Amino acid sequence: MEPIKVGLLGMGTVGTGVLRIIEGHQDDLQKQVGSTIRVEKVLVQDKSKARRYAVEADRITEDGWDIVNDPDIDIVVEVMGGIEPAKTYILAALDKGKHVVTANKDLMALHGPEILNKAAEKNCDVLYEASVAGGIPIIRTLIEGFSSDRITKIIGIVNGTTNYILTKMSQEGASYEDVLKEAQELGYAESDPTSDVEGLDAARKMAILGTLGFHTSLGLGDVQAKGISQVSKEDIQYGKSLGYEVKLLGIAERQDDLISVSVQPTLVRKTHPLASVGGVFNAVYVYGEAVGETMFYGPGAGEMPTATSVVADLVAVVKNLKLGVNGRTMFVPYKEKKLKTEEQ
Ligand code: NAP
Ligand code: HSE
Repeated sequence: MEPIKVGLLGMGTVGTGVLRIIEGHQDDLQKQVGSTIRVEKVLVQDKSKARRYAVEADRITEDGWDIVNDPDIDIVVEVMGGIEPAKTYILAALDKGKHVVTANKDLMALHGPEILNKAAEKNCDVLYEASVAGGIPIIRTLIEGFSSDRITKIIGIVNGTTNYILTKMSQEGASYEDVLKEAQELGYAESDPTSDVEGLDAARKMAILGTLGFHTSLGLGDVQAKGISQVSKEDIQYGKSLGYEVKLLGIAERQDDLISVSVQPTLVRKTHPLASVGGVFNAVYVYGEAVGETMFYGPGAGEMPTATSVVADLVAVVKNLKLGVNGRTMFVPYKEKKLKTEEQ
């Protein structure tokens, strides 16, 4: 049986994990999809950089078009981050009938409708599980698991970097700057960590979760976002003395058809399950009218947890390929929205 050929855009924290999982779990993957999955080509910015995972030189390119224009490549995995050139590569890959897996929440929160509509037009899959909450399969859960319910509330700790910082400031009295540096070294933070600490990364993720949970179309501009850069050790210790932990919470709610989404540092009573979500872990609480309260918990960032979600999407695309149903199982939710105003 012909191998399924994958082009990997990016070999940083997440891309390295994707290679490790595809090449390390080949037997298990093959048992599930009936073919070998082979990463044919890998895009990097700088070939001369030392790598943590060995890849033959002839598989590495500095030109993304080598992957997008390669007729043998069936699936493009985008883990390079940023808007451009990632968006151009993804749209061009879809135009050529290639399926796409991405971990890029910036891109999906800003240009999701354009990308998903192009995919639907071309009968291609675009899956993006890793874009929210790293290793927690929350996107699949919202799209499939709760398709029967009416979700009215989603509360999430959806940024691993800020939760890592707040936890270390609370438990060890560590300084904000020191822990941020550590989170960067561990590969949790974005290349520009401003989006983590100012709440923008969480806002993008909440826009995606709100869109899927409420069957609407939310963008970054619909989310009121405030980060943790102004939270001091003293604030955290004062909160603790009163029985609270400070957490960066994303809150998406709908009442009737009115939607509100926000991200802000919040005092969470220590007895609440969200207060004990520590380190790089994320948690997403989902309330559905029929199911009631549910909560999903797991590592929210980092090489292997994030790569787990990326490769699971890849497996889903390959299964769809085998069944000939690509583009048909995808959720293209974009409808009108009604945002709650201050007065409401
Ligand atoms: P990263 O470590 O900075 O890796 C980015 C990779 O893309 C690097 O290999 C880089 O090449 C390559 N690259 C970037 N721009 C390029 C360009 N213009 N041309 C060619 N190659 C380019 O990033 P990451 O942490 O893996 O994150 C990747 C994506 O996953 C982002 O969208 C991020 O938001 C998302 N994500 C990350 C995590 C996480 O825990 N890190 C979790 C969930 C989602 P060089 O290696 O040569 O520099
Ligand atoms: N920078 C992000 C975080 C990566 O810390 O949550 C995972 O999306």
